[in-house]
Amino acid sequence: MKIFIDTANLDEIKEAVSMGVIDGVTTNPSLMAKEKMPYREILKEICRLVKGPVSAEVVAVDAEGMVKEAMDLHSIADNITIKIPTIKEGLKAIKTLSERNIMTNATLCFSPSQALLVAKAGATFVSPFVGRLDDISQNGMDLIGQIIQIYGNYGFNTEVLVASVRNPLHVVQAAIMGADVATIPFKVIDQLMKHPLTDIGLQKFLEDWQKVNKG
Ligand code: E4P
Repeated sequence: MKIFIDTANLDEIKEAVSMGVIDGVTTNPSLMAKEKMPYREILKEICRLVKGPVSAEVVAVDAEGMVKEAMDLHSIADNITIKIPTIKEGLKAIKTLSERNIMTNATLCFSPSQALLVAKAGATFVSPFVGRLDDISQNGMDLIGQIIQIYGNYGFNTEVLVASVRNPLHVVQAAIMGADVATIPFKVIDQLMKHPLTDIGLQKFLEDWQKVNKG
């Protein structure tokens, strides 16, 4: 499973890249708003740090406006993937961009029917938001299973990108289900490597090694 980092923060991206586990980045307008640098500069720097897909979101809600913004975002770097909201106008924009061989990421996907249509329109990625479904008492991971099954039934090439990840269990379940990608906040990437038995075991080994040196 590919791992993308879900942030626009350059320090977090640098740290995660140095861990050797990052295949791409996802940003969104809310994540961009937390940063101080102008968004074009941030995106340019992210694309310098990460060669895989870097999602940048359009804010237009009509297809023509989305495509116009997409072309501008894509001029920043070839690995920019255009995040398009999963709405009817978004389908038209995804179709146009896919015909121009520009990668797209259908964002804010909350149902299997939406996932089916964005795949037919030619989306490179679909982003089902699992955490936000959990927040309204629906099991977000059930949606991932449904989309994987639908795409498998018909051989769609659209990659299932598990988004709105809130904890390590989401990541493990995504990997067990065979999702193509999970986009993960830095805090959760950190949590994925933590285990109390590793810390306790390491501490004991280091203490015992002190005794070996003294002996
Ligand atoms: C995905 O691409 C989104 O940026 C992100 O996963 C949204 O997560 P949130 O629901 O925690 O805001």
